Amino acid sequence: MRVHGGFKEARIDLSVNINPLGPPKIFYSALSECINDRVLEKYPDYSYKDLRSSLAKFYRCSEEGLIPTAGAGEAINLAILATKPRRIVVVEPSYGEYEDISKALGIEYKALFYDKSSNSFYLDFQKLNSICEDEESLVVITNPNNPTGYYIDREELFTHISKCKAKFLIDEAYMELCSKCPVDIGADISSNIVVVRTLTKWLSVPGIRLGFLYTSNAEFHIRADTLRQPWNVNSLAECIAQKIFNHGNELRTFINESRQFIDEEKRHVTRALSALGLKVFESSTNFLLVEISNGWYVVEALKSMGIAVRSCASFKGLGPNYIRVAIGKSNENSEFLKALAEVLKNVKSN
Ligand SMILES: Cc1ncc(COP(=O)(O)O)c(C=O)c1O
Repeated sequence: MRVHGGFKEARIDLSVNINPLGPPKIFYSALSECINDRVLEKYPDYSYKDLRSSLAKFYRCSEEGLIPTAGAGEAINLAILATKPRRIVVVEPSYGEYEDISKALGIEYKALFYDKSSNSFYLDFQKLNSICEDEESLVVITNPNNPTGYYIDREELFTHISKCKAKFLIDEAYMELCSKCPVDIGADISSNIVVVRTLTKWLSVPGIRLGFLYTSNAEFHIRADTLRQPWNVNSLAECIAQKIFNHGNELRTFINESRQFIDEEKRHVTRALSALGLKVFESSTNFLLVEISNGWYVVEALKSMGIAVRSCASFKGLGPNYIRVAIGKSNENSEFLKALAEVLKNVKSN
């Protein structure tokens, strides 16, 4: 069964990792302009020429290597289908879809694990050496990682893996919400690497379904582009993106403000959780992994108070005694902390 965050009935939903400051105003202005232009009555451009050009300009990469997709989800599927690997190697714990897809396609799945220190899950590059020479493997790394929040320096990672024969899928869904991460994709990506990005998280628009994959490998690009569903990105998403990416500077300012806000709130939430005696792992992005006894009880008790956090029971190498908490708006974070303190008091007194 596929397991995901997101609990529609929650008053405060910290089980999904989206930007608490979004969407920015220009998103809604673009949305109403596109509706007024009646774009839903037209097919999108089959080849997404202008959309690819707007995205490539903003992310400073080449438009030829870019394929717009319905969210990062579709980009991941396409990358796997177009690679047709003998095995998929996922650095775990991570997002569950990679394993689900490999199982559905009958592709061998293998896990490599992050090492754990007192406050972080980190990747020892030596671990990749065993797989590096295997040209039939597709190695998946989420950077920054979900659910640990761990960030591997992108340049260091790309230098290391570009020498490998194995192919790499690097899911960068949370890059824009991580202060030490680059926003740019850059044109010079090694041909064995596919990068996945999405607008979902940083613009806070899971409903619009827009992401893309990027590759410098022309052969792979043709395969992936042929495999995508015709008109895979709807005309509303196409229209909005073209409009907002014309305001690149405004979007970059929005990213910087979001990062600053998230960092400040994250410091505050981390301090408060530590003061409650909980172990919080170092995170470079907009959510925190927390080790907590009686995890199931805590998740359910919070839910009954209208607050959703993500149980990590379904994540490889974690379990029910870990939860993932997104950084929300200030009042949401305060309410969550207050509710959690109350729940923990009840746990102790029972
Ligand atoms: C690491 C990662 N990749 C991809 C996705 C899917 O993103 P999208 O909503 O853009 O399909 C998620 C969503 O939770 C995610 O955490």
